Amino acid sequence: MKRILHIDGNHPLLKNQLEAAGFRNEDDFTSTKQEIEAKIADYDGIVIRSRFKVDKTFIDKAVNLKFIARVGAGLESIDCDYASAKGIALIAAPEGNRNAVGEHALGMILSLFNNLNRANAEVKSGKWNRESNRGHELDGKTVGIIGYGNMGKAFAKKLRGFDVTVLCYDIVPNVGDANAKQVALHELQEQSDVLSLHIPWTPETDKMVNEHFINAFAKPFWLINTARGKSVVTSDLAKALQEKKVLGAGLDVLEYEKLSFESFADAEVPEALQYLMDADNVILSPHIAGWTFESHAKLAQTIVDKILLLYNPVEIVEERQERVTGIGGFFLKAKNPNELKEWYRNHLGLNTDDYGCTFWWKDKNGADCSTQWSPFKDDTTYFEPSKKEFMQNFRVQHLEQLLVHLEAEGVTVLGEMQSFEYGKFGWIMDCEQNKIELWEPIDHVFL
Ligand SMILES: NC(=O)c1ccc[n+]([C@@H]2O[C@H](COP(=O)([O-])OP(=O)(O)OC[C@H]3O[C@@H](n4cnc5c(N)ncnc54)[C@H](O)[C@@H]3O)[C@@H](O)[C@H]2O)c1
Repeated sequence: MKRILHIDGNHPLLKNQLEAAGFRNEDDFTSTKQEIEAKIADYDGIVIRSRFKVDKTFIDKAVNLKFIARVGAGLESIDCDYASAKGIALIAAPEGNRNAVGEHALGMILSLFNNLNRANAEVKSGKWNRESNRGHELDGKTVGIIGYGNMGKAFAKKLRGFDVTVLCYDIVPNVGDANAKQVALHELQEQSDVLSLHIPWTPETDKMVNEHFINAFAKPFWLINTARGKSVVTSDLAKALQEKKVLGAGLDVLEYEKLSFESFADAEVPEALQYLMDADNVILSPHIAGWTFESHAKLAQTIVDKILLLYNPVEIVEERQERVTGIGGFFLKAKNPNELKEWYRNHLGLNTDDYGCTFWWKDKNGADCSTQWSPFKDDTTYFEPSKKEFMQNFRVQHLEQLLVHLEAEGVTVLGEMQSFEYGKFGWIMDCEQNKIELWEPIDHVFL
């Protein structure tokens, strides 16, 4: 059985689904890096957030590792080149939190433009200052995005409908799209009223926003940073804020954060940071742009899906579970369903009701199981896109995983899985265009 080590807590669906797919999951949230290095050879995979750096020493010990999965967007805490050279697959989940980051960046801009932070504090302390809190409108402004990948694109998507000009600068050519026009850096600096950073932290982006960089902007601008703290020189930003070259800043990440993003590096607050903390045109948040209830689940789901795709789906699923465990139902089209049900009741003794007939039986463990027979009116669309007169329903285990596996095998999966109190349902097409309903049943609801 494949073993996965989890060194940080995540949404429970991550382990539940991996468990269901046949992996053995083990937690170790407390051991040091060295202690984990001592046992990592026993594992096929590791799931990590940001607890420590996965460096050469670690990778050298991880002789059986097939993948490193980071429940987050960036992989800068992992020596990716070395891991890849050792044949270890790297998995990240930017799809899981990019929408959250886009919304957070937008929230920061709107909050800064409308002085919400300051006005809120003033009203709550009994001050009613309207003129000094007069806001700005985004309408007609130019927003410059540096780094047009997952996060940058998600942010640009959020700006649709604001009547803003969106420019992006990226080292990779031709990444611009309908939501942002790709331009040279100097052009972005000439035109932007707002700058939002969405670059990874690399030697080139380290300290990128410094005095020289800020001075290259033609107009005073607002700065949003939801990328990495070390891309902004805080003391230079504080100076620019004092000189009104930067009109306001929304910072979700700080130069002084620890690698784990769990706290500031030092107990003592550096002077420049103190300035930002005191400034009422600066909004700070504790690295939570991608940290929503929704992204918690989406990140975990993205990781599960990507891990499952790494393995031969048949091998993993069959190591642990059957796929179809019985017939869940047989559905047919009828000119007159009520008459047909009556015929089956009279001639075959079926105990019919409004829906057809439910047959009860016991599985090999003695559990009560049901199979449904139902006629549908012949103009039903439920069997579509199949043109056939009937549809089969199969009882399955672990439908979510099975659908992932089936999709990976090239099977047509129709629509999204749906959950009801009597179980989960998914739909697929077989190779002769018969629609099949897959049902992970909860039979006792019918009893
Ligand atoms: N605050 C949060 O909660 C949070 C959440 C998710 C991601 N992030 C951060 O957001 C940033 C972007 O993440 P992503 O998933 O979009 O990454 P990504 O790799 O999808 O996109 C980054 C883009 O930046 C470009 N780029 C790299 N170096 C550049 C440079 N020197 N100049 C201009 N462009 C450059 C790349 O070509 C790429 O298009 C990362 O720093 C990531 O860690 C923060």
